[in-house]
Amino acid sequence: MTPSDYEYLRKLLKDLSGLDLSADKQYLIDSRLQPLARKSGLSNIGELVAKMKSGSGAFIAEVVEAMTTNETFFFRDKVPFDHFRGSIIPEILQARAARKSIRIWCAAGSTGQEPYSLAMCLKEMSAALVGWRVEILATDLSQDVLEKSRSGIYSQFEVQRGLPIQMLVKYFKQTGELWQVNGDIRAMVQHRQLNLLHDFSQLGSFDVIFCRNVLIYFDQDTKIDIFGRLARAMEPDGFLVLGAAETVVGLSDVFKASPERRGLYRPSGVHAAPARTSVLGANAPKAIAMAGL
Ligand SMILES: C[S@@+](CC[C@H](N)C(=O)[O-])C[C@H]1O[C@@H](n2cnc3c(N)ncnc32)[C@H](O)[C@@H]1O
Repeated sequence: MTPSDYEYLRKLLKDLSGLDLSADKQYLIDSRLQPLARKSGLSNIGELVAKMKSGSGAFIAEVVEAMTTNETFFFRDKVPFDHFRGSIIPEILQARAARKSIRIWCAAGSTGQEPYSLAMCLKEMSAALVGWRVEILATDLSQDVLEKSRSGIYSQFEVQRGLPIQMLVKYFKQTGELWQVNGDIRAMVQHRQLNLLHDFSQLGSFDVIFCRNVLIYFDQDTKIDIFGRLARAMEPDGFLVLGAAETVVGLSDVFKASPERRGLYRPSGVHAAPARTSVLGANAPKAIAMAGL
């Protein structure tokens, strides 16, 4: 890959997905894009860049998807789910007793293990939720991971990562070597493609937002912009849950850390400057809109 191919890919990926690659990540591009190049009948990354420059929006979307990191597993990091069961939902049950509705957003839900973990937690609490309207929205940039999430089908390896055996038996059906989440749990999760760089104000207001292990790939300005817009997409007494390596501290004052609950943030009541609808500049390639990213 020539330096100019690398710079082209670096800028495009930053503009389209927020991925902030440092100057020395050629190996990452190589390992993620060589398989796509081969599958597309191209012999190297140079040819792949040439095809992108020829303006195929669908192909650019494939490149962006191939560069996303989709690592996830059931009940990842455990603690956020303990907070969810032990304090977030109990507090919401009190605060929303009149309205009897809960809206939860998994803002980078990947292949579904995170939203289905939340759905299983809620199912376990169903006695307290009789008569409540519960909504879980799972969004992601990548259509491929959303498709898998919708199917709710996982390999033996995937269900062995983080999922307690009792839950596997209770909430999954085995078909050959695969396991599928039961229909009633799947029905609790709505799916939708969404790029966090773009305006999401149309989603309305949430009580709980899980936005984990995605902001880590973005630069500081992008994180600040997204925190501002997440705060506006949240009820004033809502909860933001970030990944173990992510924080708002030192970046934004629209959320405050929740004492003694690691990874949990509450709106501070401070409002960020009005949203930019997108961090894409005016120079964003037309192909983006065509690709629907
Ligand atoms: C590492 S996974 C995290 C999944 C899950 N939240 C967890 O913590 O296990 C990151 C996900 O973020 C998605 N992603 C990357 N850039 C995105 C963007 N700009 N907007 C929305 N999702 C994005 C990727 O497709 C990927 O599925």
